[in-house]
Amino acid sequence: MERIISVIAEKVTAAFLAAGYEDRFGAVKVSDRPDLCQYQCNGAMAAAKQYHKAPILIANEIVKVLAEDPLFSQAEAVAPGFINLSVGPEFLADYVSQMQKEPKFGLQTAENPQTVVVDYGGANVAKPLHVGHMRPAVIGEAVKRILRYAGHKVIGDAHLGDWGTPIGLIITELKVRQPDLVYFDPDYTGEYPKEAPFDVSELEEIYPYASKWSKEHEDYREESRKAILELQQGRRGYMALWEHIMRVSMADLKKAYDNLGTVFDIWGLESDAQKYIPDMVKDMKDKGYAHLSEGALVVDVKEETDTKEMPPCMILKSDGATLYNTTDLATIVERMTKYNPDRIVYIVDKRQSLYFEQIFRCAKKCGLVKPETGLVHIGFGTMTGKDGKPFKTRDGGVMRLSMLIDLITEEVRSKMADREMPEEERDKIAKQIGLAALKYGDLSNQPTKDYIFDIERFTSFEGNTGPYILYTMVRIKSILSKLTDAPNAAHVAGREYGPEESALLLTVARFADSVEKAVAELSPMRICQYIYELADCFNGFYHANKIVTEPDEAKKADWIALLKTTLGILNDCIEMLAFEAPDKM
Ligand code: ARG
Repeated sequence: MERIISVIAEKVTAAFLAAGYEDRFGAVKVSDRPDLCQYQCNGAMAAAKQYHKAPILIANEIVKVLAEDPLFSQAEAVAPGFINLSVGPEFLADYVSQMQKEPKFGLQTAENPQTVVVDYGGANVAKPLHVGHMRPAVIGEAVKRILRYAGHKVIGDAHLGDWGTPIGLIITELKVRQPDLVYFDPDYTGEYPKEAPFDVSELEEIYPYASKWSKEHEDYREESRKAILELQQGRRGYMALWEHIMRVSMADLKKAYDNLGTVFDIWGLESDAQKYIPDMVKDMKDKGYAHLSEGALVVDVKEETDTKEMPPCMILKSDGATLYNTTDLATIVERMTKYNPDRIVYIVDKRQSLYFEQIFRCAKKCGLVKPETGLVHIGFGTMTGKDGKPFKTRDGGVMRLSMLIDLITEEVRSKMADREMPEEERDKIAKQIGLAALKYGDLSNQPTKDYIFDIERFTSFEGNTGPYILYTMVRIKSILSKLTDAPNAAHVAGREYGPEESALLLTVARFADSVEKAVAELSPMRICQYIYELADCFNGFYHANKIVTEPDEAKKADWIALLKTTLGILNDCIEMLAFEAPDKM
């Protein structure tokens, strides 16, 4: 279906042509002043310059043409030359009933679907998921689903860190604690044990301990660097240990992501890309892109127009070891080889912005991607406590993600304490609402902004929150359940529409506009803004009308259809945001 704004723009464009002006002046946008009109065209002002005529005169001519069109309930010229436009509820009701018949409510899915890789896990093995992993998982999942809804082919990749510093530290610490393990014997040639010499809780204790210790001890740090290098060179015992670490920790990570409702299509690992490194490095050297600088191999990525510092991109350290950069570049090679994507989108902390700028430039310069391949970094800020510092446990420790989910679920459960329902059902609903509160609280912000984890606000059933959206959906479900026997007739022409119904119709009709904006900007926030407005419009309509007892059967049938569409759209939207609505709450 054509978007409603395009339907209007076509008419305005035609009016400019009919009045003897160029059609390009007929562009239309959603009004900045919804109290005055729904849409506006500012083209008369621009045309005035070209045609040496007062803008209001041009606007008047256009309005004269438009006023004859039954589409418009309002076409007004306002000084100095604005054209204010609104469409009537009759047209909107028609448009909405058309939407009801179309898949995805008439959204035009991508004509040329793109293949997009979304890189949004980034957790590191041997470390439990903590609150810092929540944002990429939540934002990335929504970006992936929005693009997919719009018809693109999207591959969500966990891209787990399984290769760098942490693994070196764990191996080093294990060697200190259990030096007699067969993995450390360089002369051992037999098979290694099937069982790991640790369980997941030991693993999770070892890493932070080793990390802290290494910060204070240079020799320990050196040991661990050596361990990584030897692992990269394929030392057997270390490879076997690495496999144990992987197996034990992956199972745990999968559970944690699953609990959050994050669904990766592939569980890529940093180490997967290692086999692409030698050829990539050789090519960079052969083609003269990479050169030695103080022993390290680097690629210059500075451009003349740079106003900020842009250090070269390091490919190999002076001891020949690969690093985070090398892995990300080789992962680009891997992805191009396997999926040939049109775009790769990274959802990673904004503190890595400069890093990604270097990587992207390096990838383009060295021809790892096509000139037209999109490389996008969506950098996100920090979720903080009320003190403005990263959100912590009460005693100041790193908070696990599972603990955060429990915290918010518990808060919701206590709000629902007076509801009559079996405990099990209450638990399930509280979890659904809790996740919605958490995700909506995050996604309704610009990703780059830091935001405060405000549990009271997030879990409130009123205001711009996830639970408010769910509450509205539950309300619609409950009304519909009382109306099952009502006739489902097509809407009737020539009836009265209240202002609340008109507002709801207009917002429903703008669904595709919002999705397209979200897709173009890769912005789940746009979907949040839209469903908040839609929920508000619905509640306005609900309070202004007695839907269930409405005596006019034809009107009631219209309303049932409108309710179903509103609910259907809300459903599709929260599915894009990766949360779900209960049947009651
Ligand atoms: N594992 C990394 C870290 O903990 C984040 C990975 C982000 N993704 C990427 N392609 N670099 O910092």
